[in-house]
Amino acid sequence: MEQRKSRLENMEKIKKMKIFVTGHNGYIGPHLVELLKEKGHQVTGCDINLFLESAISKVVPPDKELIKDIRNLTVKDLEGYDCVMHLAAISNDPMGNVNPDITYSINKEGSIHLAHIAKQAGVGRFLFSSSCSIYGKGKDQTTGLDETAELNPLTPYAISKIETEKTLNALADKNFCPVYLRNSTAYGFSPMFRIDLVVNNFLACALAKGEIRIMSDGKPWRPLVHCRDIAHAFVALLETPVDLVYNKAINIGANSENYQVKEVADKVQQLMPKASIMFTGEVGADPRDYKVNFNLLYQILPHFKLEYTLYKGMNDLFDRLKKINFSEADFNADRFVRLKLLQKKLNTIASFSE
Ligand SMILES: NC(=O)c1ccc[n+]([C@@H]2O[C@H](COP(=O)([O-])OP(=O)(O)OC[C@H]3O[C@@H](n4cnc5c(N)ncnc54)[C@H](O)[C@@H]3O)[C@@H](O)[C@H]2O)c1
Repeated sequence: MEQRKSRLENMEKIKKMKIFVTGHNGYIGPHLVELLKEKGHQVTGCDINLFLESAISKVVPPDKELIKDIRNLTVKDLEGYDCVMHLAAISNDPMGNVNPDITYSINKEGSIHLAHIAKQAGVGRFLFSSSCSIYGKGKDQTTGLDETAELNPLTPYAISKIETEKTLNALADKNFCPVYLRNSTAYGFSPMFRIDLVVNNFLACALAKGEIRIMSDGKPWRPLVHCRDIAHAFVALLETPVDLVYNKAINIGANSENYQVKEVADKVQQLMPKASIMFTGEVGADPRDYKVNFNLLYQILPHFKLEYTLYKGMNDLFDRLKKINFSEADFNADRFVRLKLLQKKLNTIASFSE
């Protein structure tokens, strides 16, 4: 009876958690807000809304919304929350190369600031949206790179993720549990759409222009995951007992979802047989080449299962883009390309931190 009571109390506690989500109006964020609210959690979203133009359908709003730069958040802003889910970032390798300062300022300094104030505010859990891109060029292309693999960052973006992981690691203690979700490259439908991710780019280009443009030689390996499955992983890792996830880096994806870029193009061509595959050679042999091992995720969460395979996610996205008559003008426009929108907004981003 006592046991049942405490289980119920626990469930009740899970239902009533207060979650602070940064970057909730980006590509992954809207799925996360929706899933958290479905589970009964109380959600605050914090964003500077850099990409509102990328909206292609309605989002489920959080319970409370703060339009504020993470670099300007205070301890008071975070008091009373059980968990911070930190997604806000300049999530773009090319932008990191064009303007490394902004990437470091937001992704590294901003994240470190957020971690410190979250800890001071008494937030118990901090789920950080890291990335498998920190593996850079991986040596193990057989079983894949696990969380103990050597890190080989090739961009300021990847370096910023590693530096944040290191700081969080140093802050971890019995009252503050950071978890590093090293996400695969995302794809698939989101209300805040982007076409600068490999799968979305190939699919949108094939639909809009009848071409699939491969910028490398097509050989690099990439682990891929649907953006909604990243959100599922955040929710699952929120609800997992602390001792199972304490201060752990966890690759997010599935062993079966590692693909070579050429394979992705072939799958898009199967959906649109008239589309031609072109090798543009723009980046030569892409140095970012990593096959990833996801065993740890399924050891920690034996019941976790991705909602999407690449095949299912591509079919879903194909249907949705057809429904909104995604056109060549849409493909060529700025609104779905993070780099183009960011370049227009550099001044706004800088002034937020003053
Ligand atoms: N998309 C992917 O393939 C992928 C893969 C691995 C990891 N990640 C990580 O997941 C997170 C979310 O990725 P995404 O694809 O949704 O990115 P996104 O660029 O679509 O969204 C990022 C959001 O953060 C907001 N933001 C940026 N700087 C901010 C600041 N200083 N203060 C407040 N808000 C700010 C933006 O306005 C935007 O809404 C990022 O941390 C990214 O590095 C993404």
